[in-house]
Amino acid sequence: MLSSKRKYSQPQDQDQDQDHHYQQTKQESTKDCHDWLTLLVTALVPLMIGVFTVVITIAQQSSADRQRQQEQQQADNLQNERIFSVYVDDISKLLLTKEVTMDNKALIYIRTKTLSSLRKLDTQRRKHLLLFLYESQLLQYDKAKKHDRSTLNLAGANLNHIHIDKPRNFNNLSLPGVELNNASFTDCHLQHSRFADAQMNNIRFTNSFLAGTRFSRCSLEQADFRNTTLTHVSFRSAVLRHADFTRAWTKGVDFTNADLYGALMTEKHLEEAEFLENARLPNGSFAMIQEKNLVINGENVGCHKKLLSPWMMEAAIIKTFQHYSSSLNCSFGIANLSSMSPTSIEQSVLVANYSVLIDSGKAEYNFSGLFGGNAYARITFLTNGAVKTGKRVMIGKN
Ligand SMILES: *[C@@H]1O[C@H](CO)[C@@H](O)[C@H](O)[C@H]1NC(C)=O
Ligand SMILES: *[C@@H]1O[C@H](CO)[C@@H](O)[C@H](O)[C@H]1NC(C)=O
Ligand SMILES: *[C@@H]1O[C@H](CO)[C@@H](O)[C@H](O)[C@H]1NC(C)=O
Ligand SMILES: *[C@@H]1O[C@H](CO)[C@@H](O)[C@H](O)[C@H]1NC(C)=O
Ligand SMILES: *[C@@H]1O[C@H](CO)[C@@H](O)[C@H](O)[C@H]1NC(C)=O
Ligand SMILES: *[C@@H]1O[C@H](CO)[C@@H](O)[C@H](O)[C@H]1NC(C)=O
Ligand SMILES: *[C@@H]1O[C@H](CO)[C@@H](O)[C@H](O)[C@H]1NC(C)=O
Ligand SMILES: *[C@@H]1O[C@H](CO)[C@@H](O)[C@H](O)[C@H]1NC(C)=O
Repeated sequence: MLSSKRKYSQPQDQDQDQDHHYQQTKQESTKDCHDWLTLLVTALVPLMIGVFTVVITIAQQSSADRQRQQEQQQADNLQNERIFSVYVDDISKLLLTKEVTMDNKALIYIRTKTLSSLRKLDTQRRKHLLLFLYESQLLQYDKAKKHDRSTLNLAGANLNHIHIDKPRNFNNLSLPGVELNNASFTDCHLQHSRFADAQMNNIRFTNSFLAGTRFSRCSLEQADFRNTTLTHVSFRSAVLRHADFTRAWTKGVDFTNADLYGALMTEKHLEEAEFLENARLPNGSFAMIQEKNLVINGENVGCHKKLLSPWMMEAAIIKTFQHYSSSLNCSFGIANLSSMSPTSIEQSVLVANYSVLIDSGKAEYNFSGLFGGNAYARITFLTNGAVKTGKRVMIGKN
């Protein structure tokens, strides 16, 4: 602060001094600036080298990574190609030398080979494997037996993400129980094909011809059926939530017990369908609910001298006798001839046609009977996997 000192000690020479002062300050700040510049330049050089080296290293690293990745991809590709050609050679030889028609062992061998190869292959090779099997007539269902090769069962096979997007003939394709999630068969001919029990969520069938195909119990959530021909297709017990039926032709379709919640379809699609019993409609309501007596005990079929076959009993031990019969009313008794101990008979009722109603909590039933003596009846509910579920119901016992 030399200048300020000078300023106060020599007030008489103010103008000149002021000038001097300004100059001084200016000089000082120029010097400051210069200092900063040198500092900056000197600092920048190593910094730039630093940045440069960093950039170089990263670039080198990523190119090494890319190379490693490429090598890995090439190795994988080779490995896939090897597995695929070994598989095709093996199966082709077998098909040429053995008669797969009657020989069940050959089919089991092909199934095992196919499933284990599918597990190792990439999507593209899995698609080619599917085409190979179809063309070898191993995946063609034929009721009329036009060709005599038996059909291969690929249930459980992973065919997810397979895309067949060019016009292709897949008529009578048989793929029950497979996984075909996120796959596509667009512009294809899939007449009379069978996909029962397959997992096909997000599948795309756009523009395909699917007349007479079976999708019973398939999971088809968000499936794309735009502009498809679906005449006489069976969607019995299929899950079709949020499926898209825009411009699809649904004449004669079986939607029994199908779940169509949120599906994109018109009133006309529903009108043209042949069966809509127990189906959940796009708006969540049920169009028609099958109401009939599911227990067969005589009145639906007329009274019989013997107990009807749906009743299970220990043959020869239990004797049934008819007490009374009218056109509407049959009553029967049962007795265990080898003991006085309690005796029972049993009937199983399939409620698979009501699964959507049951699962949405909307199923209702009435259970009634007339009982004499110590007789009573009991209902036990079982799941698909034969596991007891729900409430056990007992009637006729005080
Ligand atoms: C395809 O299936 C239909 C119906 O089951 C059958 O009539 C027809 O002969 C089959 N066609 C071929 C080429 O196998
Ligand atoms: C199918 O795709 C959806 C999203 O597009 C994804 O969430 C789902 O996991 C995929 N499914 C399979 C089996 O890869
Ligand atoms: C609908 O599908 C048919 C084949 O079934 C095709 O010829 C036609 O071009 C498709 N229409 C549209 C609008 O995609
Ligand atoms: C649900 O949809 C069906 C068929 O489109 C229709 O008949 C019915 O009235 C609708 N129900 C409700 C509650 O909107
Ligand atoms: C059936 O038989 C029982 C007892 O024999 C009788 O009470 C009942 O009215 C009959 N029901 C019909 C519909 O005939
Ligand atoms: C009939 O009696 C025999 C002998 O007590 C017994 O082993 C059998 O389980 C009985 N049958 C039925 C269906 O109750
Ligand atoms: C389920 O419904 C279909 C069509 O309505 C019918 O043909 C079939 O016999 C029913 N199955 C059972 C077990 O009730
Ligand atoms: C069950 O019985 C009740 C009363 O008797 C009746 O209101 C109801 O409609 C019946 N439900 C069925 C599904 O038959």
